[in-house]
Amino acid sequence: MKVAVIGSGIMGSGIAEVFAINGNSVILYDKYEEALKKGLDNIKWSLEKLHEKGKLNEEPSTIMGKITPTRQLGEFYDIDLVIEAVPEDFNLKAQVFRELEKKVGTNTIIATNTSSLPITELSTALEKKDRFLGLHFFNPPVLMGLVEVIKGNYTSDQVFERGIEIVKGIKKEPIPVRKDVIGFVVNRILFRVFTSACRLVSGGKYTIREVDSTAKYTLGFPMGIFELLDYTGIDTNLFISREVKKRGFDFDCPLLEELYSRGQLGTKAKRGFYDWSNGRPRIEKTERGPSAKEVLEDAVKEAIWLVNNNVSTEEEVNKATKLGLGWPKGVLEYGKEMAILKP
Ligand code: 3HC
Repeated sequence: MKVAVIGSGIMGSGIAEVFAINGNSVILYDKYEEALKKGLDNIKWSLEKLHEKGKLNEEPSTIMGKITPTRQLGEFYDIDLVIEAVPEDFNLKAQVFRELEKKVGTNTIIATNTSSLPITELSTALEKKDRFLGLHFFNPPVLMGLVEVIKGNYTSDQVFERGIEIVKGIKKEPIPVRKDVIGFVVNRILFRVFTSACRLVSGGKYTIREVDSTAKYTLGFPMGIFELLDYTGIDTNLFISREVKKRGFDFDCPLLEELYSRGQLGTKAKRGFYDWSNGRPRIEKTERGPSAKEVLEDAVKEAIWLVNNNVSTEEEVNKATKLGLGWPKGVLEYGKEMAILKP
């Protein structure tokens, strides 16, 4: 398959890498030379890591050879799939789609990796809307096993089914998202976790390290919650929170504004909630901290809402948090343990 990825940030470069590893030829576009170079460096680093661990079937250089970087939105008429992964800004994405539609063939599928913008709303930028869908990856795409496949109001059944097949073809688990709700499945749950964690800290009840200690040592999450905010980017999360709030979903974390104004953008800036200058922060087990229920109750209620509103099934929401966020248990499995509520 011939794939083009638009935007070579953390997600775009990771998505390009996944497609190349799985034998596809990939065009990686970015408007900015520096960003393109950084994206290619990320891919090289990641491929070397995977190679060291014997997780690749080919040499890193062979896989790199499948990726063609470009700063020109060329004639993409023979491309099968384009995935947009530019920053979370409606107007920017809409402009990309308008330009893309002039270059691609009539059968090219156009997908967005948006984290927060409704697929139906984004598709208004396109003339031919039935070819458009959401393919939402998780950071780092090469290690996380899940991709959400989201159907907008205009996405044809055929394109939606093709999206699911494409995800299987890159050896990821597809989660079909049948209703185009804000934040889809995983992020609706994750934004509740972020909001609860920020509230626990802003209110002065607990420290960042205490909340993250509960996340890591009580809940068994692979990262602390504030560590994950740093990892996915303070700017990215702030922009997402603004977009979803505009559309009526309450992802609220005033701490993000504070960090952003100080340029503490997280892992990529080597400083966010934590200092990353010597690599990942060490999160120790603290003596006190919030209970699992204080951290997770709103997220469990959100998962129940998703099931009750037929966005996803119980099995799918559990799979989504295990594969998309690396949690050892599904969100509703935690819910049952904490006797929160049943769907
Ligand atoms: N490519 C290749 N190797 C990588 C890598 C990458 N992109 N990233 C990390 N690694 C390597 C590390 O270098 C390390 O290698 P080493 O053993 O040689 O030192 C190895 O993987 C293990 O990494 P770590 O020791 O740092 O730790 P973990 O075992 O915790 O694994 C992780 C890392 C897979 C990122 C894990 O911490 C995790 O699952 N974290 C949660 C991530 C998550 O929740 N992602 C989703 C966020 S939400 C999202 O993306 C949606 C968006 O819309 C906001």
